Amino acid sequence: MKLHVWFSPLGLGPSDVQGRTIFVIDILRATTVMCAALHHGARALIPVASTEEALRLAQTIGSADVLLAGEKNCVRIPGFALGNSPLEMTEQAVKGKTIIVTTTNGTKALLAAQGAATVYVAAAANLTAAGERARDALEQNRDVLVLCAGRETAFSLDDAYCAGRLAAAALGGHKPRKGLNDAALASLDLVRRYRDNWERPLSYSRAGRELNRIGFRADVLDAGRLDAYPVLPYFHERRVTVAPQPQLQPAPPQPQPQPL
Ligand code: MLT
Repeated sequence: MKLHVWFSPLGLGPSDVQGRTIFVIDILRATTVMCAALHHGARALIPVASTEEALRLAQTIGSADVLLAGEKNCVRIPGFALGNSPLEMTEQAVKGKTIIVTTTNGTKALLAAQGAATVYVAAAANLTAAGERARDALEQNRDVLVLCAGRETAFSLDDAYCAGRLAAAALGGHKPRKGLNDAALASLDLVRRYRDNWERPLSYSRAGRELNRIGFRADVLDAGRLDAYPVLPYFHERRVTVAPQPQLQPAPPQPQPQPL
């Protein structure tokens, strides 16, 4: 069993992702936004690397059901319908829409995870669903990687704490001596430090303080609401949609009663 945490996608290469089950976290705010949008009925999100790519793709698709979303320096990109706030992803705004999204760190982390066996999107908003899926993956002897988007390739407290919560949920009370990398151990230590109080690590983080300063305190609080948007998004064929339920294993054949 291998449960690794990476505090940022810096240096992540194809051999680090291949064959793994990856959970991408950018709790403030991109992965929380994705959970909110899908929970409120968005058809899909398409993460792209830049504003220019978002505009080009919207033109290529050319449908009224496509919305542009994202941020630069935490504020909405001029001309885009939506920013990067989970509170904007209301049913009225997103139901039935395909959302092309670009953000500073979150969408880049998702794109860096391409090539993995499966890529899920995680946050506090869907922690129980993500934790269950991570535990299933470990039980099936799959290597799990929790990839924090971080902040401009550096460590971020908000993502690292969320990674620890996800790792703890995946381990379900087991304390393996092997299989965890140092970042996984450190993220579990953050959980011991902050326990189940999401508000402290989110508000103390640099992203949280910055969002607070520019008027997005409500987003920081929303991002810390456990299981607020209980969907499990996954990134497949360039789109983020709700992940299918795992295939149930067929029940083993019952022995036929022998005639007396
Ligand atoms: C990001 O992708 O860097 C963040 O989601 C930025 C933000 O909170 O707007």
